[in-house]
Amino acid sequence: MGWRSGFAAATAFVVVLAAAVASHAQGAAQSAAAPNGEALFNTRCKACHDPAQGRAPARNALAVLPPGQIVEVLTSGVMAPMAAGLSADEKQAIATYLTAAPAAGPDAHPAPVAAASRRGPALPANVGVDPLCQTAPPPIRESGSDWGSVGLDAGSRRFQPHPGLTKAEVPRLKLKWAFSMPGGAMPTVMGDWLFTTNRNGKFYALDAKAGCVRWVTEGVGSRTTPMIVKTPISPSGWATFVGERNRTVRAFDAQTGKEIWRSAPLEANPVAGITGTPVVSGGQLFVPMSSGEEGAAMQASYPCCSFRGSLSGLDLKTGQVQWKTYVIAEPLHPTTKTPAGVQLQGPAGAAIWSAPTVDAKRGLVYVATGDSYTDAPTKGDDAIVALEMATGKIRWSHQVTERDNFVMGCNEAQRRANCPTPVGPDYDFGASPILFRLPSGKEVLLSGQKSGTVYGMDPASGRLIWSAKVGSGSALGGIEWGMAADDKRLYVANADLVLLFDEALKAQGKGPLEGEPAGPARPGLSALDPATGKLLWTTPAPEAACHYAGDQSRSPVPGLCIRAQSAAPSVIPGVVFSGTLDGWFRAYDAATGQILWASSTTAQTYDTLNQVKAQPGGSIDGLGAAVANGMVYVMSGFNGASRTGGNGVNVLLAYSVDGR
Ligand code: HEC
Repeated sequence: MGWRSGFAAATAFVVVLAAAVASHAQGAAQSAAAPNGEALFNTRCKACHDPAQGRAPARNALAVLPPGQIVEVLTSGVMAPMAAGLSADEKQAIATYLTAAPAAGPDAHPAPVAAASRRGPALPANVGVDPLCQTAPPPIRESGSDWGSVGLDAGSRRFQPHPGLTKAEVPRLKLKWAFSMPGGAMPTVMGDWLFTTNRNGKFYALDAKAGCVRWVTEGVGSRTTPMIVKTPISPSGWATFVGERNRTVRAFDAQTGKEIWRSAPLEANPVAGITGTPVVSGGQLFVPMSSGEEGAAMQASYPCCSFRGSLSGLDLKTGQVQWKTYVIAEPLHPTTKTPAGVQLQGPAGAAIWSAPTVDAKRGLVYVATGDSYTDAPTKGDDAIVALEMATGKIRWSHQVTERDNFVMGCNEAQRRANCPTPVGPDYDFGASPILFRLPSGKEVLLSGQKSGTVYGMDPASGRLIWSAKVGSGSALGGIEWGMAADDKRLYVANADLVLLFDEALKAQGKGPLEGEPAGPARPGLSALDPATGKLLWTTPAPEAACHYAGDQSRSPVPGLCIRAQSAAPSVIPGVVFSGTLDGWFRAYDAATGQILWASSTTAQTYDTLNQVKAQPGGSIDGLGAAVANGMVYVMSGFNGASRTGGNGVNVLLAYSVDGR
């Protein structure tokens, strides 16, 4: 996946890490005394996290995590290979050190008040004070204007036909409230209720209108968008489901936040995790699996690679696994040995980053897969795959890019021995496929790739009907997080992020980040005819001011306002909402692409409902906006992979007509 591109990996990195491993032996010998968290961090972690390399979160982004979560990540999560040989006490010492000391150096958080509120003694490693609602929560009721799942409908169209907001009212949208949280996911809305997970383990149900907290369940290690479902499996009649980083799925009563069930881990490989939203259809829950193995492979001693993307079908009532299907069919086998004697293996990869799309009529569920991690050949990566809902059997699989073999940090002159040769372009699918019904009644399956290409396929067979290029493509998109479709058109946001950096570097007389550039950067929003792929309009992302207040340590060009249009768009009748990494949130005329409304989420700071003062906004990225009951919700300050405009903390912004 693109955010995994290793362009920031310093050449010094490999050397530092080798030293880290050597000095670890001494660290272990001394650990009978009190382990020194700082020393352990400096030898085992700093090389990747301070300053942050590749996709690794910056040190100050680790500081907002609950210590227990850091220990978990080191013990049974994506960092287990990096923490190999550390004792429980040593892991705890690192977690204590990270979360207690204020960050220093290039990653220091520049917003003093927000930083104080996260690290001050009164507020343990967290953001703000939760504003609990003063009245008893009303029962959850559908309103007819809900956004209950990441794609809203089973076809993942992200189309809200009844937004409670007209096109004429859109220019009057104003901020109603803001709520600060470290790395919140795209929210869902059901009636008066709003639901969101976030990086500090707090799963929130808010009053969708007022923003106060109805319930908060802690220790939920998830950043997936919670789907809200009316179902008798829940005491209240409403349930919600999240996928956790530790590879389990949990079902909660949406009315109370109480757990209903927790699945067994769906994958043993500690580098695997769930990033795509688990999706319910009938009595089943479909869970996609992705991984951080492209990052784990940044360690030269890592036996790259063994993860493979899978989809699991679970019984909605119990969380029992009915079937699990790997999208790579070839058996895992040893390949070459590195000069240092590390046995490499493959094929691997094909992570499923996004929510599956359900086609109950055909009995199929569609997933879009990411790149391959090794040069062992496979057909399962960079593919659209249709699986039978009942059995998990693969009905068809259509690979669009062959040999896209990629792990992080392999593009530099100083390549590691566990890098694939040659290194592929990292053209994952990061976005859910969209099932679209044409006026003729025929259906077409639409998918967008980080190459900047959109594909229209026959949902029954996977046959390619058309393809169209809306951008030049790059390792961070191209089409990164998603597309949207109303009844007439397909709306495609294109990022071309790496190419934007390349242009800025070229202006400074420097070379491109990732070898030969794929073409000019063409960030923007386009509308296509779903039947033919014909381009109807394109609105380039405007060059506009931004005020990034946060971590710029990972940006190849610090301070540059990056107008990559990476987040998934959302559509209501006549209007498309779409944000950019420079923090602008805009509404477009769906017929013409004309910009109807624009607001810079970085032009101001926010005094949030949870008592954080002067919280800055940042990039708009990820799964974009939800529109329900006359309100528009979007996260600003995405702290993920894009390496620009992330500020360590997201702020959930709620807009309404005139801010009422
Ligand atoms: C070789 C590079 C490398 C080293 C060494 C490394 N990390 Fe990481 N770390 C990463 C990358 C890359 C990610 C992102 C993985 C992902 O999300 O898939 C990450 C993610 C994390 C996360 C998860 C953050 C979250 O939001 O869940 C934590 C916590 C973390 N690292 C802590 C550590 C600690 C503590 C150490 C030292 C024991 C360490 N890391 C060593 C590269 C590294």
